[in-house]
Amino acid sequence: MKTDKIRKLFLDYFENKSHKVVPSDSLVSHDPTLLFTSAGMNQFKDKFLGKDLTYTRACSCQKCFRTGDLNNVGKTPRHHTFFEMLGNFSFGDYFKDDAISFAWEFFTKILKIDSNLLWVSVYKDDDEAYEIWNRKIGVPDEKIVRLGPKENFWPSNVQKQGPNGPCGPCSEIFYDQGEKAGCGKPDCKPGCDCDRFLEIWNLVFTQYEREETGELKPLPQKNIDTGLGLERIAAVMQGVESNFEIDIFKPIVAAIKKEANSPACPPRQRENTEQYSCK
Ligand code: SER
Repeated sequence: MKTDKIRKLFLDYFENKSHKVVPSDSLVSHDPTLLFTSAGMNQFKDKFLGKDLTYTRACSCQKCFRTGDLNNVGKTPRHHTFFEMLGNFSFGDYFKDDAISFAWEFFTKILKIDSNLLWVSVYKDDDEAYEIWNRKIGVPDEKIVRLGPKENFWPSNVQKQGPNGPCGPCSEIFYDQGEKAGCGKPDCKPGCDCDRFLEIWNLVFTQYEREETGELKPLPQKNIDTGLGLERIAAVMQGVESNFEIDIFKPIVAAIKKEANSPACPPRQRENTEQYSCK
């Protein structure tokens, strides 16, 4: 399935669930506390704080830039600096129950992903999310992993490190890429550093505001902020092992390859930096 089709299916699905389709915000952020837009929720910060509720459900495909991931770019098949993030948002409207049900329905009914290949994680104390996954959705106990504030709070480790602002526990959906993609350890599961379990969708239950003191104050309303990496889900749907092999990147990679292997610029010459401009 082409990346453009996944993007459209996502926005159509949530529009049919009464979400306003909001265009991607500028990559250079309007928010004076941010240099670049790094998540779909950035443009909705005021809505999470209950300040502007002209609509209470939204979805978007946000262009994002993450400097925090720079050290991983080029080393893993799944990290980028620039990427597109699909997201659905609730501002004091639906909460955990619907957010989880929507995500599961989109994956298993719309994209028709084999549910046997999906695992989930919840924040270590979040029994409510655990029960919804287990009892309502039917994910077996052995495929639900409880993780700590680094993995399952958003922003990661916010209690200790900040930043101030809306935050909350999260639940993530992982795609099992099979033993061959993994470390082979018998206890390998989501949270393991290897590539077997690909984190594809983050459902954040935005219910707190972190204050200057580090205290997490309950927000007047409970919100949902989800982020589904478009290039990662495209890699899953296209059965390729690396995001860099998906349809929208192929022509770019091919063009770079062509330039790099250009007869006017053979490899031996390229080692000499003076030859970089050989074209
Ligand atoms: N804000 C969360 C993230 O960026 C979910 O959208 O992962």
